[in-house]
Amino acid sequence: MTVREEIEQLKKEKNAVILAHYYVRPEIQEIADYTGDSFYLSKIAVGLKEQIIVFCGVSFMGESAKVLNPEKTVLMPDAAADCPMAHMADAGTIERIRGTYEDLAVVCYINSTAELKRYSDVCVTSANAVEIVKALPNKNIFFIPDRNLARHVASQVPEKNFIFNEGFCPVHEKMSMEEILKAKTAHPDALVLTHPECPDAVCRISDYIGSTSGIIRYAGESSVREFIVCTESGVRYELEKKCPDKKFWFPETEPLCMDMKTITLEKVLHVLKTGENEVLLDDSLRLESKKPLERMLELAK
Ligand code: 13P
Ligand code: SF4
Repeated sequence: MTVREEIEQLKKEKNAVILAHYYVRPEIQEIADYTGDSFYLSKIAVGLKEQIIVFCGVSFMGESAKVLNPEKTVLMPDAAADCPMAHMADAGTIERIRGTYEDLAVVCYINSTAELKRYSDVCVTSANAVEIVKALPNKNIFFIPDRNLARHVASQVPEKNFIFNEGFCPVHEKMSMEEILKAKTAHPDALVLTHPECPDAVCRISDYIGSTSGIIRYAGESSVREFIVCTESGVRYELEKKCPDKKFWFPETEPLCMDMKTITLEKVLHVLKTGENEVLLDDSLRLESKKPLERMLELAK
């Protein structure tokens, strides 16, 4: 039997389902039951009929799935696959900002640890952040951890006062304006589609700014046939599947999230076989970090 066949068989035997983010390797996206961006995956994780969720993504994704589905077993193919940005804020600063500003909401990008979520009022993803921040009654917004997504949301919601935090995604932060301009010269008919985790200089020369699912939708609906894509290159798989007749170019320094890429078919098979790398959270952390996640799902309906 091949590794893929073994995975298929074990999935049925153990009543398991595989979720995958667009940034994981193509062969993982191929075997996944559900593939999507962070928002889609957090929604789909609620109400799955299978007992075991194998989450092909980084640890904050597995944690969110467990927080929202405490009765399920959530397995991570690689327990070390983590998002550096998820740790780039701290409880002390949140407390200080809460003490400084009245009428404040702490808005937490879902790319954060459960520990950070527990001190936050609402979670957002790159797909719903603008909509959710607009809907909040508060004037002051402390947006953690990503300064780039915060800046993008602030530009769309000028009526609010933003307090910024110095977190960033190391993969998107590296995207350089010079490389994008070079790609534009090489492909003058292409539109530039950019994830809001990218620096301001890249966003400014983009035709569209949105989450990974937003980028995929935009490319599919556009009459244009060529795109320069400024996000992690794992999205190429879905873009080419959805739009086989269109061309997708990436920056010369390929944007790769090594934490996402560490997940392999062999590791998926291993956790299905052994039940290793289960996500476990203590009850108080789970209940406290659930509130901002549920508020996000409610506000984004
Ligand atoms: P989205 O899935 O919201 O597009 O975010 C990208 C990302 O960096 C996930 O880690
Ligand atoms: Fe984190 Fe960036 Fe990797 Fe997404 S791409 S998981 S934000 S390091």
